[in-house]
Amino acid sequence: MRVLMIGDIIGKPGRNTLAVLLPRLRQELHIDLVIANAENTAGGFGLTPKTAQELLNAGVDVMTSGNHIWDKKEILPHFDEFPLLRPANYFGAPGRGWLMHGDVMVLNLQGRVFMPPIDCPFREADKRLLEAQAELGTPPRTVLVDFHAEATSEKQGLGWYLDGRVSAVVGTHTHVGTADSRILPGGTAYVSDLGMTGPVNSVIGTERAPVLERFRTGLPQRFEPATGPCILNSVLIDIDDATGRATDIVRIDRAVD
Ligand SMILES: [Fe+2]
Ligand SMILES: [Fe+2]
Repeated sequence: MRVLMIGDIIGKPGRNTLAVLLPRLRQELHIDLVIANAENTAGGFGLTPKTAQELLNAGVDVMTSGNHIWDKKEILPHFDEFPLLRPANYFGAPGRGWLMHGDVMVLNLQGRVFMPPIDCPFREADKRLLEAQAELGTPPRTVLVDFHAEATSEKQGLGWYLDGRVSAVVGTHTHVGTADSRILPGGTAYVSDLGMTGPVNSVIGTERAPVLERFRTGLPQRFEPATGPCILNSVLIDIDDATGRATDIVRIDRAVD
């Protein structure tokens, strides 16, 4: 099985980039399953039912998210109508933290270092893997994890913690892709951050001037997605269907004007 995991989609520029590139990539790379992080899809903050549908129309199969998924209240009552996850370790929040897409388990977790204090992502991973096993009557063979976290150390930590137990651990949230994609010794594909799908002449997808103003003055600003050329950051992962072990991971980064 061949999976494409795509970094945070930033507002309309990100949605348009996805709509242009993803159908081509799906064909060109013979992709079976597409996961994308949707936490910044609507105006850069959160997700709405309409923008969620746009991602599905572009060819996304499962949407993961992170801390910004709560920014647009419109999505909350509709959470379960979509193949949409929020980090599993938000205790008592609406929505769900893992799902089965066919026989593939997709799990979304969030870090706690320089992030809101939520439940432990390590213990949560154990708990959700057991929960899936109980529900299926057998351990899920193929498991894809989006770990939405700030600190590289915490991401590497979870990668090692889950090595050999899941097919992939990919990081999201920083909006900057990392050059450390590899297969860990136990057969888990790993990358510290996928990056983003959005405007490159920006500060992590956002228009530069208000960000600089906030850094210089400390005053709150209104943030909008930037304009101009965009990039799609992702990784392509090959998984052995018989074992659930990853056999290859490569970065796929594509630009559009
Ligand atoms: Fe994000
Ligand atoms: Fe985030």
